Amino acid sequence: MTTRLAVIPGDGIGPEVVAEVLPVLDWVRARGRDLAWGLHPWGAERFLATGEILPEAAFGALRDGADGILFGAVGDPRVPDGRHAEGILLRLRRDLELAVNCRPCRPLQEAHLPLKGVAAGQVWIEVFRENTEGPYCLKGTSEPGRATDFAEHTEAAVRRLLEAAFARAAARGCALTVAHKANVLKHGHGLWMRVFEDLRTLHPAVPARGMHADALLCALVQDPRPFGVIAADNYLGDLISDLLAAFQGGMGVAPSLSWAPHRPFRCTALAEPVHGSAPDLAGRDLANPTGMFLSTALLLRHLGWEPEAMALEAAVAAALREGAATPDLGGTLGTRAMGAAIRSRLET
Ligand code: NAD
Ligand code: IPM
Ligand code: MN
Repeated sequence: MTTRLAVIPGDGIGPEVVAEVLPVLDWVRARGRDLAWGLHPWGAERFLATGEILPEAAFGALRDGADGILFGAVGDPRVPDGRHAEGILLRLRRDLELAVNCRPCRPLQEAHLPLKGVAAGQVWIEVFRENTEGPYCLKGTSEPGRATDFAEHTEAAVRRLLEAAFARAAARGCALTVAHKANVLKHGHGLWMRVFEDLRTLHPAVPARGMHADALLCALVQDPRPFGVIAADNYLGDLISDLLAAFQGGMGVAPSLSWAPHRPFRCTALAEPVHGSAPDLAGRDLANPTGMFLSTALLLRHLGWEPEAMALEAAVAAALREGAATPDLGGTLGTRAMGAAIRSRLET
C-alpha cells in the first residue's frame, strides 16, 4: 500500500524549512519507495483569513488518510494567544495519541558543543518526552488576582512513555534517567515514580534512576556523557530538550519525532524540528533547515526506510563537516543554500 505523508508547513520559518525537505521526499520516491505526499496548509494565515483552525474533516483526513505528518512550526505574533497552535499542533499530538516524543541530542560538530572538556562524539542523549498531557491538558482558570493551571497525568500515557524509554535504553545498552519533581508535585510525579518502579523490575538490566529535574539540569551541563535516555513529562521534557538543543548547535539543529506506540489510528507519527516559527528570522532566508532534515530522517526510519534515513543523516553530517553553515552556526549560507548543500550530498 502507498505510504502517505501529510505535510503541514505552518507559520514563520516553518514553510521555509519544510520547502527544503520536500525534494528529499521525491528522492525517496525515486529510489523506489511507494510514497505520496500532500500539502495541508493549516496555520495562522488560514486562521486569520477564514477563522478555521483545523476543521473536523481536515483532522479526520490526517488521522485516517496519512501514515505520518511532516510538520514545520506554528506560532504567529498576529495570534498572540496562540489558539491556532493549540488547535493544530497540540491537538494533533493529543488526539492522535502521539504519547512519545523523542528528541535526540547527538552533536555532529566539535564546535557545536559549548562544554569544556567534552568531545562531541561522547554525547548521545535522547529525551523521551510525554507528549499529550501534564499541563498541556490546557485546563485552568484566570480570574482577577488568581490563576491556575491544571496538570493531568494518566497511568496509560505515563506507562506508554516509560515503556518506550526503557525499551530504547535496553536496545542502546545505555542508562535511563527519569526527570521529576515528585518532592513537590506529589500527585502527578508521584504517579510517574510508581509506574517507573513497576517497570524497573521488568528491566533489571537497564541502569535506571529517577532524578530531581533541577539537579539533572546542573549535572547535564557539568557532564552530559553519562546520560543516555532521559524520560520526562511534557513540561520538563520541553525544557530539557531546548537545553540539549544548545549542545548540538542550537535551535536550528535539534530534531524530533512523536509517535503512538499502540498505533490507534492510521497516522502514527509526526516529525517536527524542536524549534518554533522564529518570527525574527521569517521571510529572510536565515533559518537553519538542519533540524527539519534530521526530523525527516527520523520519520523515514519510523516508516521502516532505514537506508534512506541513514543516507539523509549522513548527508547532513557531511555538509556540516565540510563547512556548510547558516548564520546561527557561524556561517553565511541562507536556508535555501544550506538545504541545497545537504541535498547535494545525498547519493543518487
Ligand atoms: P523559536 O524556536 O521560534 O526561536 C527561539 C530562538 O531560536 C530565536 O532566536 C530564533 O531565531 C532561533 N531559531 C529558531 N529556529 C531556528 C532555526 N531553524 N535556525 C536558526 N535559528 C533558529 O522559539 P520562540 O521564539 O520561543 O517562539 C516563537 C514562536 O514559535 C512562538 O509563537 C512559539 O509558541 C512558537 N513555537 C512553536 C513550536 C512548534 O511549532 N513546534 C516550537 C517552539 C515555539
Ligand atoms: C515545542 C514547543 C511547543 C511545546 C509549543 C509551541 C506549544 O515549544 O514543540 O517544543 O511547548 O511543546
Ligand atoms: Mn519547546
